[in-house]
Amino acid sequence: MSFVQTQAGYKVTPHPQHNRLYHIVLDNSVIEKFLQEFSGTGIQHLEYTPYMRFILAGKLRDLLGTGFLETLRNILADRQSGGFTIGVQGQTTSLDDYVKFGTAVSHLIGPSNFDAMSGTYYARFVVKDTDNSDSYLRQAYRLFTLHTDGTFVDEPTDWLLMMKMEERNAVGGESRLLHLDDWEELEQYATHSLADHKFTYKSPSSKNVGQVVHRPTFFKVNNKPCICFIDQFVYPATIEQSHYLMAMSESLERSPATNALKLPEGDLIMLNNMFWMHGRAAFEKNTELYRELMRIRGEFAKS
Ligand SMILES: [Fe+2]
Repeated sequence: MSFVQTQAGYKVTPHPQHNRLYHIVLDNSVIEKFLQEFSGTGIQHLEYTPYMRFILAGKLRDLLGTGFLETLRNILADRQSGGFTIGVQGQTTSLDDYVKFGTAVSHLIGPSNFDAMSGTYYARFVVKDTDNSDSYLRQAYRLFTLHTDGTFVDEPTDWLLMMKMEERNAVGGESRLLHLDDWEELEQYATHSLADHKFTYKSPSSKNVGQVVHRPTFFKVNNKPCICFIDQFVYPATIEQSHYLMAMSESLERSPATNALKLPEGDLIMLNNMFWMHGRAAFEKNTELYRELMRIRGEFAKS
């Protein structure tokens, strides 16, 4: 836990629920000043004017120092960790404020990807009792298998942010997380003859991505294996390839190292998308279930 520290305006602490993650605590006055500064800025302005997203990030950097930005980037790049949580600490319950805060934190790390599902740089999606969509994203009572994001788009997806916007009548539904180095059978699948085979990825129509991309399941960054995988969007061409993918997904699902993390409203998690896999536990049946998440994905800044 080499990034644990106390600085003016913030503290980096070990995460209470996961031994690889950090939880960052801000001084409430910092959150208040940040929100105050942008109280007149509408969300639509962030959607339409990309530089505003970095202007928000810049305010956090001004309030907390360059060391804060460097610490967040270093945590996400650190193979031992690669993730942290942070939140608005009850200083606001406005969903617009949540979007502004999540935008600022994520843009300290780098530019966001275009999210074709929403047509802008972030997506908000609701899970309820009933669903008629075309992927498992919104199906409440089904476990969502471990995967990485950005499999079917051309841009690099180095990091992922998930923020809890609202949650009512929800039991279960936690984020399931697995760090690749905690997966017992990593070696077996990462060195398999199909590990670097370029599989075809296509998305369902709701994602609005007409593109087809070809990606290897395993690739190396700093000489360590990284992964790109989601069972729903990969199109194998043979029986052997299908056996490899199914056995791997089942091995991931069996791993006792998978941790179900509870995220309070107004908190967000950022993860390195190359060596962390994520999914969702099933919710318990409730006709009044309502949960909304925001996601942002993007690249590491080049400078
Ligand atoms: Fe995902």
